[in-house]
Amino acid sequence: MIENLKGILLITAATGAAAMGVSGCSSTDAVVPENAGSEAGCPASGCPTQGDAGQTQDDASQAQGDAGQAQDDAGPTPVDVNTPPTGKAEDIEAWIAKGDYKKGDWKCDPAPHDAAATGMSPHGKVLICSNKLAQGYTSGTFAVGAATVKELYAANGTTRNGTAIMVKVAAGAAPNSWHWYDRVGANTVANGRSGGNVDTVCVGCHSKAGTAGNTGGDFIFSIIK
Ligand code: HEC
Repeated sequence: MIENLKGILLITAATGAAAMGVSGCSSTDAVVPENAGSEAGCPASGCPTQGDAGQTQDDASQAQGDAGQAQDDAGPTPVDVNTPPTGKAEDIEAWIAKGDYKKGDWKCDPAPHDAAATGMSPHGKVLICSNKLAQGYTSGTFAVGAATVKELYAANGTTRNGTAIMVKVAAGAAPNSWHWYDRVGANTVANGRSGGNVDTVCVGCHSKAGTAGNTGGDFIFSIIK
């Protein structure tokens, strides 16, 4: 039943039909953008599970070319409800607004601080949160589903400038094993696994994580435990 439903949703998404917005279907954790409007409807056959909703969002985004440079294959089925979505920027922003990354098993810096490796990080003051799978990292590559959210602040440490997120969406050590998201002000600087600013801005610097005295590994500098 679930499999059939997923097939229907994927087909619908692939045809580029109005953004599925199936996130509006999940009962308790609905991510309904302000302007969801008709998107919030459920397919007649009922609502998908949370996991299916996440995956379908990603596909829907891809079908619409919303992310521009994104070359996402189907994203992973979220490992738990605290795995950020990897589709349309508005869905990611709605997830950020809910603040789930500061609850449950997530661990966060206590307050915004100067970015580590000052002079190398372009991120201003930051407050970083790691989900459970990210916290479990020891060496090598992160587990699929690992995620970090970084709140970006102005130098005063209180004015919020934006958010960056990395979600491990495939096994392996390639840069496109991560979904890269970054919004600064009104600008979506990056949203995808490769191409555009992901390749020209994010990857080069983040590839230094875990090398030459830098903490972390697999493109991630900091893990909050
Ligand atoms: C010039 C280097 C540089 C560039 C370019 C850069 N970052 Fe970072 N980024 C850092 C450093 C250094 C940290 C660690 C900050 C800290 O721990 O205080 C970081 C932290 C992060 C984190 C938190 C997880 C971690 O690695 O600690 C995310 C998410 C992130 N960056 C996303 C991005 C995205 C998306 C882009 C591209 C739009 C980007 N960054 C571009 C240097 C960079």
